[in-house]
Amino acid sequence: MSKLRFGMIGAGAISGLHVPAIKAREDCEFVCIADVNESQARARAEQWGGDYCTDYNDLVKRDDIDAVAIGIPTRFHADAAIKALENGKHVLCEKPMARTLEECDAMIAAAEAAGKVLQIGFVRRFDDDWGTMRRLVQEGRVGRPCMWRRIVCGAAPGPPNYGEWYSDARFSDGPLPESGSHDIDFLRYTLGDVAAVTAHMDHLANYGSVLDNTVVILYFRSGDQALVQWSWSLPRGASSGFGGMDVIGPEGCIHSTRHEDGRCFVDISRAGGEMETVEFVNRRDAETWGQGQMNNFVHCIQTGDTPRATGWDGRCAQEIYLAAVRSMEEGRRIELPL
Ligand SMILES: NC(=O)c1ccc[n+]([C@@H]2O[C@H](COP(=O)([O-])OP(=O)(O)OC[C@H]3O[C@@H](n4cnc5c(N)ncnc54)[C@H](O)[C@@H]3O)[C@@H](O)[C@H]2O)c1
Repeated sequence: MSKLRFGMIGAGAISGLHVPAIKAREDCEFVCIADVNESQARARAEQWGGDYCTDYNDLVKRDDIDAVAIGIPTRFHADAAIKALENGKHVLCEKPMARTLEECDAMIAAAEAAGKVLQIGFVRRFDDDWGTMRRLVQEGRVGRPCMWRRIVCGAAPGPPNYGEWYSDARFSDGPLPESGSHDIDFLRYTLGDVAAVTAHMDHLANYGSVLDNTVVILYFRSGDQALVQWSWSLPRGASSGFGGMDVIGPEGCIHSTRHEDGRCFVDISRAGGEMETVEFVNRRDAETWGQGQMNNFVHCIQTGDTPRATGWDGRCAQEIYLAAVRSMEEGRRIELPL
């Protein structure tokens, strides 16, 4: 079988997840990387042994490329994905899928018209830490309905590891879609479809222009609920006093996973002070994280199977974010679908 030939659109931080995962497979070949920053594209091409270009319009037209991974500022996802699909490439597009439902729908339609795979980079679906929390909830270990809580507060990603665009509203919608879309997607993956959303969002930071302070309550059709607070409101270098993830149920609480001396645990607290500790393995192997995600993408290209995270999943996460914006603007609970 001939090798599956890959292009990478974007030579920033996330290319460091995708290209090594491509190169780790004997049946795949890394061909070219595109980035508007020529020196960055050249450096990555030298690092990974491929061509480079500065315009993804050139990359998607190459007939020696079968599939692309897209990791550029969110504003450009839909344009790059649709052009790649129209040129007959399979697409693994980073989250958030796009900024509007119209863009998401156009990406899904382009994939259907081309008969190509469109997968969204919800890599947490391949994470054993989150997967263990999911398994324990689904096994009913603290009862249902439950309330899943997730609280994260820090500074917006920025130099030297990332671009400034993350906190610039021209390119990004801030922490809830950029980071919290992993949570929103994973919660849907675990608890099912969302029926309604209540949110508070504002701009607190002394830099940037996005809604950097977000608090969202999700009401699931299952009766479960989730509280998601994602804030990038802190100045760079500052840290918050607490944060993490737990699940409150009628029979107890599943605490955040913890890693100690290379071993992974979850504590479950129950009535009467009983504490159960569950040990699990965070594999970081071919089934998990960035490699697991890439392997799933290649498997779907080769077999026609449905990706673990589809374009529809990307659209649903974005719809929940847009419902949160509407809730903040109108000061009321918003029912889904929009
Ligand atoms: N799945 C995850 O956990 C995860 C983690 C990090 C980033 N991401 C996503 O990946 C995407 C990229 O994020 P990043 O952290 O790599 O950003 P980054 O700032 O590190 O890199 C972005 C790169 O895109 C380039 N670029 C900007 N506009 C471009 C254009 N029009 N055409 C080509 N190149 C362009 C920049 O020059 C830069 O090199 C975002 O959508 C982000 O949300 C996902």
